[in-house]
Amino acid sequence: MLSNVKIPELSNPSVYMKNPKRVQEILQSMVKAGSNTVQVISDFDMTLTRFAFNGKRCPTCHNILDNSKLISEDCKEKLKELLNIYYPIEIDSSRSIEEKLPLMVEWWTRAHELLVQQEIRKDLLAMVVRESDAMLRDGYQLFFNHLHEHSIPLLIFSAGIGDILEEVILQAGVFHSNVKVFSNYMDFDESGVLRAFKGELIHIYNKREGALLNTGHFQELRTRPNVLLMGDSLGDLTMADGVQDMENIVKIGFLNDKVEERKQSYLDSYDIVLVKDETLEVPNAILLYLT
Ligand code: C5P
Ligand code: MG
Repeated sequence: MLSNVKIPELSNPSVYMKNPKRVQEILQSMVKAGSNTVQVISDFDMTLTRFAFNGKRCPTCHNILDNSKLISEDCKEKLKELLNIYYPIEIDSSRSIEEKLPLMVEWWTRAHELLVQQEIRKDLLAMVVRESDAMLRDGYQLFFNHLHEHSIPLLIFSAGIGDILEEVILQAGVFHSNVKVFSNYMDFDESGVLRAFKGELIHIYNKREGALLNTGHFQELRTRPNVLLMGDSLGDLTMADGVQDMENIVKIGFLNDKVEERKQSYLDSYDIVLVKDETLEVPNAILLYLT
């Protein structure tokens, strides 16, 4: 296959594509347009971070806080209960997005209320991240550094917690000037104690609305109509809905959990599906091809 000649990583055993020829064609037109027309839009949790390491689940932004010593044992129990109720719903392929959406809003709202009750201190967040098991996917240095070197904008669009996410990439030494973050940010009072979350809540199924609220960002990037989108949830597919005059988009989806049940729906909506692939090898190979 032609595509495999140029990007051998697309033949990795973790890679599934419904229409490899189309992927090849889109990538070719992106190469022709040049890397100065490209922007990358990526989800954070379980897309840029690992899903598991040595058989153990890795934490999301929320989990980093939930499992930290800033949270009382009683509150930890309650947050765990919420996770046990709502995470199975998040990944349940037998329920529609319409059915799941109000339940996801309920999860985020209840979890944020519990976090606010804990009077979390801003100056302790760096320590909490340092002591956590958060892990970016293998190959993250190349991913972030290469985008920076080629001045390709990277939008990290996350329903996680912006303050935590930023600290993870800061501590990894990859929070470069080409990175912009849309996420849920904490609102601290003048003494540095968490009082609320700022702005409109971003959960996994309203990224389209989040994108449309940020027209200014996409307006600035209107000379970059070629998009590489990366996500792990079907809710991530709308992250590029604010892009102006889009020409080409390649959607890369990480399928981490409930693989058999969800594979078909991922193949139907993501151009490239990476099954239980804990690395950024494939996105990196595509970036190298494009630059
Ligand atoms: O960065 P991303 O948009 O992927 O962040 C959302 C993820 O955070 C969801 O996939 C969800 O499983 C997780 N989450 C969590 N605890 C919450 C709410 C969401 O771990 N209270
Ligand atoms: Mg995610």
